Amino acid sequence: ETLEYEADAAEKSGYDHYMLKEIHEQPRALRQTISGRIDADDGTVDVDVDLPSEYVDSIEEIQIVACGTSNYAGRYAAELLESVVDVRTTVEVASEYEFDGGRDPWRTLVVAVTQSGETADTLSAIRRAKRAGARTLAVTNTLGSTIVRETDDSVFIRAGPEIGVAATKTFASQVATLTLLAVRIGRARGSLSYARARELLESVRRLPNAVQGVLDREDRIREVAREYADSDAFFFVGRRFGHPVALEGALKLKEISYDHAEGFPAGELKHGPLALVTDETPVLALLTDGSRPDETLNNVKEVQARGAPVIGATTADGDGEVAADPTHLDVDLPVPAAGVLEPLVANVYWQLFAYHVADEKGRPIDRPRNLAKSVTVE
Ligand code: G6P
Repeated sequence: ETLEYEADAAEKSGYDHYMLKEIHEQPRALRQTISGRIDADDGTVDVDVDLPSEYVDSIEEIQIVACGTSNYAGRYAAELLESVVDVRTTVEVASEYEFDGGRDPWRTLVVAVTQSGETADTLSAIRRAKRAGARTLAVTNTLGSTIVRETDDSVFIRAGPEIGVAATKTFASQVATLTLLAVRIGRARGSLSYARARELLESVRRLPNAVQGVLDREDRIREVAREYADSDAFFFVGRRFGHPVALEGALKLKEISYDHAEGFPAGELKHGPLALVTDETPVLALLTDGSRPDETLNNVKEVQARGAPVIGATTADGDGEVAADPTHLDVDLPVPAAGVLEPLVANVYWQLFAYHVADEKGRPIDRPRNLAKSVTVE
């Protein structure tokens, strides 16, 4: 049983597919996500969530539960919460979640990330956490959804309706919202300095224009997609914040082009996947800030030695090795500066790549076979 959307209910405003329309809506969606929530002077955010400071102080662990693209947004956030905000955070696929709240479940905040608010696996994970006594929080796009009714509190990502089955703008808005939430929690606990908070908020504030910078280069990525569309398989790699984006890039391509695609942490290539790499398997690599570009470059050299073409997303006007000499990449895609959110900006290239590969193959992009926008069975 699945939730169906009336494909004709909303206008495609001149785009061939809802997916392409929604990819292009990202700057606007992100502005809505951020609007009125940032106080840059204070280094604070207001996401209208009822988390009393005594409670925030007492949190021992955050557990994020989510499926599909929302799970990858959760992984992005977990990396931020752990490494920048210094709160122990785990992220799990909702269908694999068994609540483990330690000695005091109340000190475990369980966050459900779900665009629709109706995904059965995510709802059942949240119900399990609640039964054990944990406090629950939803991060969702859908007012009045089941997850909103069943959690203690909700934060809305405000991306606007998404019709295409493959999630695009909601991923960007989820990561932006979770970044704001991380700043909110880090500031309340005192684990995030004023300076670091301001830096993070500045990255969030840059997102809409940075994403627009990538959208302005759609012609180039369309050309690249056409050139490589007939490859045997596609590998997406990235480290740190680039890892969830590599997973998301591969998922997007699988969903709508039906090609074999996989995402890996770049350092894992040599521990197995490298056996699959040939001159017929392009490697899409994140070489931006936030994805450890210099280390990833070593892995890129390993695949180049096996003849694989490398499509790299690199920080525009950066000053590292990568930015200094991008010529060794078969394709170099510049990413406007956005600090640790640069991999999120680069993801827009991967969305456009998936879209144009699928379009080249004549796939039914908005209604891929076997998939549904919202899966209401476990
Ligand atoms: C389905 C959709 C995916 C989505 C996942 C989670 O599988 O096809 O695009 O990421 O559900 O959906 P949710 O609404 O919980 O974010």
